[in-house]
Amino acid sequence: MAQIEITNVSKNFGFGNRAVVALDRVNLQIEKGSFVSLCGPSGCGKSTLLTLMLGLQAPSGGEIRINEQPVLSPDKSIGTVFQDANLMPWRTVLSNILYPVELRRLPKAQFRERALELLDLVGLRRFADHYPAELSGGMRQRVSICRALILDPDILLMDEPFSALDALTRDEMSLELQRIWSLHGKTVVFVTHSIREAVFLSDRVVVMGLAPGRITEEFDISLERPRSAEIETVDRFNTLIHDIRGSIARGRIGVDVEMERT
Ligand SMILES: Nc1ncnc2c1ncn2[C@@H]1O[C@H](COP(=O)(O)OP(=O)(O)OP(=O)(O)O)[C@@H](O)[C@H]1O
Ligand SMILES: [Mg+2]
Repeated sequence: MAQIEITNVSKNFGFGNRAVVALDRVNLQIEKGSFVSLCGPSGCGKSTLLTLMLGLQAPSGGEIRINEQPVLSPDKSIGTVFQDANLMPWRTVLSNILYPVELRRLPKAQFRERALELLDLVGLRRFADHYPAELSGGMRQRVSICRALILDPDILLMDEPFSALDALTRDEMSLELQRIWSLHGKTVVFVTHSIREAVFLSDRVVVMGLAPGRITEEFDISLERPRSAEIETVDRFNTLIHDIRGSIARGRIGVDVEMERT
């Protein structure tokens, strides 16, 4: 059984001439330990789908199950990383990472060692007592990944986590994320506008289309792991990027499904 089961999920916003079908009957099964990317044009419902998986809002129709349980409210078995690292400027790096522990009133002392190990993993241990303003954008994003991992969630949901970074840092972060994922065996759902990044990291790329937001196509990325920058010379890597780009371009053209059905 898949760890995340999304069955016939729809999400509507607004009424009358403001009505938007953000998601129309989305079906998606995500296996435990797999790395799945969501790609598609702006407004096709990628972030909305993540908020539904997180239990931050309810679907208008259909159901999401995680570990066989319906998602009804936010859950500690999910870690999140967003576009903005969103660290608290008045807290040190270590104290930011321990924030979810505080929030849940768990014993902070017990998690301190784990926080330092995570900082080791991302090469930032010596910055534990620094403040976010003293870090670069890439370093801040690495801290936010540590914060997402502190409670050892089964699942990591990431919404364009690297989009604010320059191209080189972004490539480094991709390698870093691949390493963390292969060490920890988390299930990752990753939203990105970079097709190259999606193909580099994923087991599967799910393409979404617009108007209404829906899944249009899925691609299996059966490229060997671990993957390095060398992969750019592999024909299949480039063919996948080309095919996915074409698929996204086709999904940009909204299809009136009502008309299609009749
Ligand atoms: N809280 C909300 N209220 C009203 N409409 C919303 C709300 N959240 C999302 N929408 C609408 O739902 C659609 C999907 O939005 P969503 O943010 O999920 O897109 P996205 O695929 O993440 O886009 P982007 O790539 O730009 O981040 C859009 O038309 C948006 O206007
Ligand atoms: Mg979004």
